[in-house]
Amino acid sequence: MTTALYRRYRPESFAEVIGQDHVTAPLRQALRSGQVNHAYLFSGPRGCGKTTSARILARILNCAQNTEASPTDTPCGVCESCVELARGGPGSLDVVEIDAASHGGVDDARELRERATFAPARDRYKIFILDEAHMVSNQGFNALLKIVEEPPPHVKFIFATTEPDKVIGTIRSRTHHYPFRLVPPDVLVPYLEHLCSSEGVGVGAGVLPLVVRAGGGSVRDTLSVLDQLIAGADGALEYESAAALLGYTQSSLLDDVVEAIAARDGAAAFRVVERVISTGHEPRRFVEDLLERLRDLIVIAASGDAAEAALHGLPADQLAAMRQQAAHLGASELSRSADLTNDALTEMTGATSPRLHLELLVARLLLPAVDDSRSGLGARLDRLERGLPAAPARAAEPVPAAQPAPAQLAAAQPALRPVPAPAVEAPSPVP
Ligand SMILES: Nc1ncnc2c1ncn2[C@@H]1O[C@H](COP(=O)(O)OP(=O)(O)OP(=O)(O)O)[C@@H](O)[C@H]1O
Ligand SMILES: [Mg+2]
Ligand SMILES: [Zn+2]
Repeated sequence: MTTALYRRYRPESFAEVIGQDHVTAPLRQALRSGQVNHAYLFSGPRGCGKTTSARILARILNCAQNTEASPTDTPCGVCESCVELARGGPGSLDVVEIDAASHGGVDDARELRERATFAPARDRYKIFILDEAHMVSNQGFNALLKIVEEPPPHVKFIFATTEPDKVIGTIRSRTHHYPFRLVPPDVLVPYLEHLCSSEGVGVGAGVLPLVVRAGGGSVRDTLSVLDQLIAGADGALEYESAAALLGYTQSSLLDDVVEAIAARDGAAAFRVVERVISTGHEPRRFVEDLLERLRDLIVIAASGDAAEAALHGLPADQLAAMRQQAAHLGASELSRSADLTNDALTEMTGATSPRLHLELLVARLLLPAVDDSRSGLGARLDRLERGLPAAPARAAEPVPAAQPAPAQLAAAQPALRPVPAPAVEAPSPVP
């Protein structure tokens, strides 16, 4: 059994931390100029590098190469402290990591306060990493307040938390606060590419964007998903099996439904619904994926050639197909479809018959011509401008009896329509 990817690839220096430059750049700058604060707060969503960065900061602060005369922002990696604090190392006596989830009580805080009065055993600082700091009780924080406010010169605190608002203000205001963020796909995809190639794993087109989407911007979650795919793959990672495993709608289903809607082909659109159900897809998931697809098409319609960069990692043929879909549907229709789909998604939450809602949605998407809202009119105008009929072709309808005949109308509104000259109507006189 190999260890998880996210453990094997845990960054050991700030240069290896991805997607957090807004945090790491100023922090490294401060370190290079020897400006070390006595307390730091790293906040942000799950799995985006807070604990990792807290450990890196501790490693740098206690690196034997990091002296007052020559401050550095990179751990040397070879001194005793650096080796002990490396991935898989035994840890150092002078860096104390406390999980506040299990040690957040007032007694733990008091004990910590006592430990902080001792000088470091070997290194420059005694560093306390308080992980999951939002779990420290209010009493616990109050017990820490004094020492965090004015710690002895050899003591440093690093708080890491997903919920900075739960760290009491008096503590927060004594820290330098660095907010971490979710990592965007255009950073994650190349990172995963690099990682797969160093793992010797082949990756089919379109797989990594799926993985990134499943990870939701959390690096740890993304790596776990990738791990699972690698474990289940027999050789290279393939798109179809990845989509199936992650429960995503195959893009061919989305292509088909979007094209059917663009062509106003009701039969084809409902055939897709049938396929969605018969292949065991969750209707709600399908609608979610359809919304995402419409979003991508809106991006393509709005950004033209720049779309490729915005939708990083789409295979070229998929992008080409989507460009056509975007052109076919037009901006107003896309925006209106996205609204309808979003509404349907909201209605589907907890609905007893999600399939019914899916069918209603498809019906609405097919029928902009009967929709008199502004967006519906916009969509019809769009179609007219592109030379398509605004409404599906209908069989010639008989004029309802109740409607006035054209002649009557003309008589009632002489200003609008010239009354035909009687000479035209009358049979020509026989000479
Ligand atoms: N910004 C990043 N760059 C590279 N790898 C990262 C990054 N963020 C997270 N990782 C990967 O995810 C793993 C977990 O990260 P880490 O423990 O730092 O997350 P965290 O922000 O503390 O999450 P949590 O809120 O769940 O404690 C790391 O071992 C690393 O492999
Ligand atoms: Mg953490
Ligand atoms: Zn070192």
